[in-house]
Amino acid sequence: MKMNRRHDCRLFLCEGKMEKYEPILERLEKTAKQYTNIAPENGQFLSILIRAIQAKYVLEVGTSNGYSAIWIASALKQTGGQLITLEVDHKRAAEAQAHFNEAGLTNIVEIRVGNAIDEIPKCEPPFGLVFLDAEKNEYLRYLELVLPKIRSGGIIVADDTVTMRNEMLDYVDFVFNTSLLNSVDIPLDDGIILSYKN
Ligand SMILES: C[S@@+](CC[C@H](N)C(=O)[O-])C[C@H]1O[C@@H](n2cnc3c(N)ncnc32)[C@H](O)[C@@H]1O
Repeated sequence: MKMNRRHDCRLFLCEGKMEKYEPILERLEKTAKQYTNIAPENGQFLSILIRAIQAKYVLEVGTSNGYSAIWIASALKQTGGQLITLEVDHKRAAEAQAHFNEAGLTNIVEIRVGNAIDEIPKCEPPFGLVFLDAEKNEYLRYLELVLPKIRSGGIIVADDTVTMRNEMLDYVDFVFNTSLLNSVDIPLDDGIILSYKN
């Protein structure tokens, strides 16, 4: 059975007071290819995860125009949490900031403009959830930098793990073979690897 993506999102967005974000998300979905945004169901997945673990501090690596950050921040609004999102491209970061302003999420999201390799060491722990969605062949470097900053029981979500797996084989090898993490492949849209920090 084919999943009705928008119906699925609406169910979530009508809970609480989240319907405010729907027009922005719908608009951004029209340019999702250009901005390489996650699929709506991956946004829904992140949102459920954040609320389920009651995450307070989330780090996103790779903001683009802020589509996934709006999903994350809208969930953090319910948990009373905060998001730091990292983007190297100034133009995209400015577009994302405009979307956060429009969504009324500026008190929840802080965008830091710069290379994640330089920015992650400056980020304050402890993170309950980290979402990796920038350069695929740098996932392992991002993880090495951020792992000490993730609390025990924290979660790492890596995107594009089916469609771009060949670019992150070192990451895949690490997360499935270290005793520090328990990991599972989830074939949701472009694929996710979900890792739990022991
Ligand atoms: C796949 S897009 C992110 C999409 C976004 N998570 C969403 O779903 O809306 C990847 C983004 O990572 C950014 N990026 C690439 N390398 C980076 C780096 N080293 N540090 C920070 N951002 C980076 C790119 O400029 C691009 O905007």
